[in-house]
Amino acid sequence: MITLGIETSCDETSAAVLKGPEVLASEIYTQQIHAAYGGVVPEMASRAHLKKIDVLCRAVYDRAGMRPDQTDLVAVTDSPGLAGALLVGIGFGLGLHIGYGMPVTGVNHLEGHVYSALLERPDLSPPFLSLVVSGGHTALYAVRDPGRYECLGKTVDDAAGEAFDKVGKLLGFSYPAGRAVEEEAARARPDGDLKFPIARLSTPGPGFSFSGLKTAVRYFIQSKGAAYVNDHRPQICRAFQEAVVGSLLLNSRIAADRTGIERIAVVGGVACNGRLRRAFGDAFGVNAIFPPPKYCTDNAAMIARAGVECFKRNELRRPSMNPVGRI
Ligand code: KG4
Ligand code: ZN
Repeated sequence: MITLGIETSCDETSAAVLKGPEVLASEIYTQQIHAAYGGVVPEMASRAHLKKIDVLCRAVYDRAGMRPDQTDLVAVTDSPGLAGALLVGIGFGLGLHIGYGMPVTGVNHLEGHVYSALLERPDLSPPFLSLVVSGGHTALYAVRDPGRYECLGKTVDDAAGEAFDKVGKLLGFSYPAGRAVEEEAARARPDGDLKFPIARLSTPGPGFSFSGLKTAVRYFIQSKGAAYVNDHRPQICRAFQEAVVGSLLLNSRIAADRTGIERIAVVGGVACNGRLRRAFGDAFGVNAIFPPPKYCTDNAAMIARAGVECFKRNELRRPSMNPVGRI
């Protein structure tokens, strides 16, 4: 079975061709234009997707040695995301469907992230926990049956990646700042005593909150002044990163204890973070599963992989030209 995946929900334009569960070719174009604005500008994202989507789809077909008319399924992200950006991918997928007649299905972007774990562990089957940590989402799901996701808890304010980006901006890094913050944190002395608090929610966990942490870093920076921040940027990054990792780990432990499910897939852009990977590896051992970094950030291979599962379950859905921005 040959599947074309298409992802255009935010600021990555991506296409991938899968043969069964195996990725034959994957292309990801990260739009650079947003860095100058400190965040994604929706209209610019849509226009940049329009310029790239055709080029990337041709490239993955070429590299896979396949043609569009040999495709058995087109899987395209149809929610959640920026409406105009989603429309570019949906329109392209529907165009292929009308032109060539293969089935097309919409895929939920978060479901795509969940299934990115199968690109690393093809044999992974329920039950498992999925911690989705990205720029737009931070949530813990119990996957007890194929295609059924129980949300155990999610952030009440900022997503973890959003916190990395906002704190990174306070410290002078450009968007997206997650990787720069991690690299800066790695330069800190390991024995530093700076700590930021992990938010405790009033409701029983799992649950996340990162806006208080971001504010704590902001007040700390303001109280210390520019000279101190220049000298101590690595320590600040390290303390912030420890607080985020600590919160993700603590809540994952609560979820594992509550559900009795010990296997956990950590997915989404923040799952690129090396400190997070080591911490989960120490806590969950071989039960901690991370996709390769190129499949943690937004990509079409995970959308195609999720599409294959929808196909197997006979749960294809026609993507709407009136896409849902938020779910
Ligand atoms: O999954 P993704 O590409 O987009 C969304 O669906 O949101 O995630 C992007 C997020 C950004 O906030 C980025 O700063 C963060 O992932 N990120 C990281 C790292 N690499 C990317 N955060 C922490 N450490 C990293 N190494
Ligand atoms: Zn994403």
